[in-house]
Amino acid sequence: MTEKKAILKVEGRDDLELPILTPTLGREEIDVSSLTANGLFTFDPGFTSTASCESKITYIDGEAGKLLHRGYSIEELAAKSDYLEVCYLLLNGELPNAEQKEAFVGTVKNHTMVHEQIRNFFNGFRRDAHPMAIMCGVVGALSAFYHDSLDITNAEHREVTAFRLIAKMPTIAAMCYKYGLGQPLMYPRNDLGYAENFLHMMFGNPCEETQVSPTLARAMDKIFILHADHEQNASTSTVRLAGSSGANPFACIAAGISALWGPAHGGANEAVLNMLDEIGDISQIETYVAKAKDKNDPFKLMGFGHRVYKNYDPRATVMRESCHEVLNELGINDPKLELAMKLEEIALNDPYFKEKKLFPNVDFYSGIILKAIGIPTSMFTVIFALSRTVGWIAHWNEMISNPYKIGRPRQLYTGETERSMEPLNERD
Ligand code: SDX
Repeated sequence: MTEKKAILKVEGRDDLELPILTPTLGREEIDVSSLTANGLFTFDPGFTSTASCESKITYIDGEAGKLLHRGYSIEELAAKSDYLEVCYLLLNGELPNAEQKEAFVGTVKNHTMVHEQIRNFFNGFRRDAHPMAIMCGVVGALSAFYHDSLDITNAEHREVTAFRLIAKMPTIAAMCYKYGLGQPLMYPRNDLGYAENFLHMMFGNPCEETQVSPTLARAMDKIFILHADHEQNASTSTVRLAGSSGANPFACIAAGISALWGPAHGGANEAVLNMLDEIGDISQIETYVAKAKDKNDPFKLMGFGHRVYKNYDPRATVMRESCHEVLNELGINDPKLELAMKLEEIALNDPYFKEKKLFPNVDFYSGIILKAIGIPTSMFTVIFALSRTVGWIAHWNEMISNPYKIGRPRQLYTGETERSMEPLNERD
């Protein structure tokens, strides 16, 4: 099949033929990489019209509200799989058979502990430090403990690093929480499942046997699945950009954690609960929806809108169902859920939100479930980072194990033209 081409017409220049790339799924893309050789650049702040890479890991159809991981829908994975099986899928491209799954889970279990000296890191933080600040620091420092496996060109080093990060993030996340409480930092237990072990380290203590509710463990595992990967979002793009310089994977993941922290991205789940607290009561919803629509008011409805989804975020739909299940199972009647449901109903019927296609995203309901599980708001983004680590690693590994260049965008320069310095005594 002859390659399709785009013709770029620029006044005073010959027409430029640009190849059109055909994806497996989604829109065709114009390959503009040859523009530089012709002295031209594209300008696309926020990369709203730019594909930064080729990838086989995750596909999002924003118009249809569809999310696939290696071809499997998020709805099916959330209903039938578990987080470690999704980790295997994201990293290896196929679902594991029974033997492969048992081996993968066993290897993760053998890496859940952190070096004892890492426990000393926590003592340098104030007890009221935001757990994301602690997580950024501790994960970035992990490379100091693994000098034996930092050769990014070595596939075995990349593999053991993936296992270490997936296995240790729950341990580190729980340590961030326990440190803030002034409670003993818990050790992982290898007889527990991944989500069960995390809840054990979060809510257990050395003085008694931990009883983890299977309902909460299942809900936690589902939250991990729903946050595992999401194509080239801000934090994953940060991980790829950091990795493109050859930085070690722990430094790249720490960069991803930092990017995720922002309220426009992974920090939105914490911001949603804070927003619901600020709205306070159903009677105030109209006032806040009006604020969100007011161009002169910086207030945005946290948990609404998405760069890619111009339909329901399929993860929000799964999360909403899980929300009801968990609250019903626990017999919790959380007024915040009622407030969230009313806010969703009013916003979705408002012309402004309809016109701008602002639907609830993954962060809108996750906070309510996490709160029902007993997780404090400050830990919400930490759990997002824990879940997304496998996605970051999968994308990092996909880039590093194929030919790549250092990411180095240019700019539209609108500053001063060249000028000479005035002597200090002659300046105004
Ligand atoms: C995540 O990229 C990913 O995949 C991220 C994520 C993942 O899994 O990695 O899905 C996770 O980050 C979900 C998003 C969580 N963030 C929030 O819920 C914060 C609130 N949402 C907004 O900040 C915003 O919607 C973004 C940042 C999510 C998307 O912003 P865009 O794509 O840059 O769109 P935009 O800001 O240009 O908005 C388009 C218009 C604007 O109005 P106009 O200038 O066109 O008049 O919609 C308005 C915006 O003002 N708008 C909102 C709004 N979101 C967008 N107005 C009110 N409330 C909102 N929430």
